[in-house]
Amino acid sequence: METNKKAWSGRFNEPVSALVERYTASISFDYRLAEYDIQGSLAHAQMLANQGIITREDFTAIEQGLKQISDEIHDGQFAWSLQLEDVHLNIEKRLTQLIGDAGKRLHTGRSRNDQVATDIRLYLRASIDEIIHLTLSLQSAIVNLAKKHAETVMPGFTHLQVAQPVTFGHHLMAYFEMLKRDVERLTDCRKRVNQLPLGAAALAGTSYPINREQVAQTLSFEGVCENSLDAVSDRDFAIEFCACASLIMTHLSRISEEFILWMSPAVGFITLADRFCTGSSIMPQKKNPDVPELVRGKTGRINGHLVALLTLMKAQPLAYNKDNQEDKEPLFDTVDTLVDTLRIYADMLSGVQVNQAAMRKAALQGFATATDLADYLVKKGIPFRDAHEIVARSVQYAEQKGCDLGDLELAELQRFSPQIASDIFSVLTLEGSLNSRDHLGGTAPNQVHKAITRADKWLTNEQT
Ligand code: ARG
Repeated sequence: METNKKAWSGRFNEPVSALVERYTASISFDYRLAEYDIQGSLAHAQMLANQGIITREDFTAIEQGLKQISDEIHDGQFAWSLQLEDVHLNIEKRLTQLIGDAGKRLHTGRSRNDQVATDIRLYLRASIDEIIHLTLSLQSAIVNLAKKHAETVMPGFTHLQVAQPVTFGHHLMAYFEMLKRDVERLTDCRKRVNQLPLGAAALAGTSYPINREQVAQTLSFEGVCENSLDAVSDRDFAIEFCACASLIMTHLSRISEEFILWMSPAVGFITLADRFCTGSSIMPQKKNPDVPELVRGKTGRINGHLVALLTLMKAQPLAYNKDNQEDKEPLFDTVDTLVDTLRIYADMLSGVQVNQAAMRKAALQGFATATDLADYLVKKGIPFRDAHEIVARSVQYAEQKGCDLGDLELAELQRFSPQIASDIFSVLTLEGSLNSRDHLGGTAPNQVHKAITRADKWLTNEQT
């Protein structure tokens, strides 16, 4: 083939310029689909042979040729060419070089439109499986840390103001729940990814007696895309995946923000292992939480990819348009970033050092048991709104005195309400407060242990 002759250029009188060639080519990024392109081609060729559309000999030659190409790619020996535009034409050209006319027959009853849609779905299916696996590992790391801290007291916050005491284990398990929903979302998304477009051909189907169910089965797809126009044109499955990815990153950016805050010497709740931090070239004392900061930062990039794909799809007429070639880079980068982030996070959690004394001290500073005093008064028959007022005045008094509610004398407390008796002191302690919230979803250590047991069971079930 002459240098400028394209697989599609039969009717053209002049070659494209070098700039247009570079602008329209996708090989610089879609070479990553090669292994899936080969899998798809094999399944297609096998079906063509089974249906008598190509001969057995042709199929055997195609099989051998594709095997050699796969080896060449694997060994870094394959010469990708920009002139050949994309992964599909690169592989097909090489196949024809290797096996002659049989290679030219592979594309019977197929178009690059249904071919590329198939490749992306195969790629994404494998990526989702990897991401689910990594998310489960991160969840295990969370559970392991929570196990050690089912009883560790820390201040719980609303508005970043000390609100009520919670256990650190309970706080961590909140992230377990978020990631559990993320895994469920990915599992559901996978079903819609796992449908076969091949057979849709360019847009309308094909006149050859193909067997799409057979191809679906060979490639382990759960079903077949049931409208050829839709099969080649929509990328909603990729958008849906990116939405799942954005949510995972959003959850990780929240815990990252907390790690950054907790690691600040002004708070000092935790330290991260040195291997996740960096120093400053000018301030020798610094240990910066670079990894959580980057996770927080990369969340913006992943959200950007989601919006890029939504915008790419918006207002595209049926069926395939070249716009869709732009689906790959955002998708690949989403997968790569998420995979790295999940990996690094599980490792980082295993190296978290917790400063229990700092957490306890902070919980004792913000009148975290004020609600417990109010609840105590309600149990003694005082209406909640009145109890709220009594506690507010007690807090004001303690604040002026510069101590916590639990440090006040009984006589001092009784000035605000005669209903207060000596049993109040077990209520005003951090442990008393924690242990009283002993119901499903509550922060009591007893409940944290139960949540961990449920989590372990769920993880075992998901991992099998
Ligand atoms: N490289 C193209 C893409 O990624 C493959 C499909 C090309 N189809 C076409 N009709 N030009 O979308």
